[in-house]
Amino acid sequence: MLAELDTIQSDALAAISSVQDEAALEEARVGFLGKKGRLSVAGAGMRDVPKEEKKEVGQKLNEVRTAITTALEEKSAELIAARDAAAFASIDPTLPSRPLPAGGLHPLTYVLGEAVKVLRRMGFALAEGPEIETEWHCFDALNTPEDHPARNESDTFYFENGKLLRTHTSSVQIRTMEKVVPPVRIIAPGSAFRRDEIDATHLSAFHQLEGLYVDKGVTLADLKGTLEFFFREIFGSKTEVRFRPHFFPFTEPSFEVDLKLQATGKADKWIEIAGCGMVDPNVFLSVNDARGDAAYSPDEVTGFAFGMGLDRLAMIMYGIPDLRLLIENDVRFLQQFR
Ligand code: DAH
Repeated sequence: MLAELDTIQSDALAAISSVQDEAALEEARVGFLGKKGRLSVAGAGMRDVPKEEKKEVGQKLNEVRTAITTALEEKSAELIAARDAAAFASIDPTLPSRPLPAGGLHPLTYVLGEAVKVLRRMGFALAEGPEIETEWHCFDALNTPEDHPARNESDTFYFENGKLLRTHTSSVQIRTMEKVVPPVRIIAPGSAFRRDEIDATHLSAFHQLEGLYVDKGVTLADLKGTLEFFFREIFGSKTEVRFRPHFFPFTEPSFEVDLKLQATGKADKWIEIAGCGMVDPNVFLSVNDARGDAAYSPDEVTGFAFGMGLDRLAMIMYGIPDLRLLIENDVRFLQQFR
């Protein structure tokens, strides 16, 4: 029995060492260690071994099994290493990898980021309010009379419960003043919605950036200085800015702000970019009513507010001819802004 086991071991080691591939190795494993393999068959012979030899034979059996198992494992590792080496032979791992296609910021996201950066440097903090608003926050508190055209069903999206999709971000002025006492200096970027016919310069969902500064002694000079600085930071230090008297219910006096566009080969053109003005005392009174205090007493504080279209800002910054390009998500368009 002992001699037979020796033979099995040397046969097995010879067979394993001559194996060329993983299939042949598996065949060798089954041939020696499998259920009907030579070692298993020999092991079954233990029954007939005399009692006093059982220990020695048993030990030998284990030794042989271990030797064969070890040889199988070593050969398997060798075959795998050879296979990997062959696979790598045709590859140069020191070559630079292929560039992965990288995404980029949407032009609106970029413009918003730039605008916020400049305004934060001037001390404006970010504020927000809901897109589904009450009529009071969107119109009444902003001194907008019941019969103002903006409140018309044909201009504004109303819900059955009387709420509406905010038509401007100016509602965030009210939301903010309800919560905090002056001084306040906030900007509120966000979506606004109107029932406009969609064309190259109108979308029914668009983006605005609102600003509000309320404190003791805030003047029109502060408003002009702030917006002129802002537009020069965004569009360059030579940018010309013009304030044109206008009317908004929530500011008095009110202005529209124009930028002078100087495209080479074209006549200079003024384009409207923002609305602004000094906060109307009636707005402060509405806020005080809602707050139940006199934190915004028109005798104590003054303020300025402004609102601009972010989509329009992006159009100017990049020379985008049609607003709809901003929402179509056509990669041929978006790829140009990476
Ligand atoms: N809410 C106005 C609009 O959507 C823009 C605006 C004008 C905002 C004057 C203001 C402001 O804060 O003072 O057309």
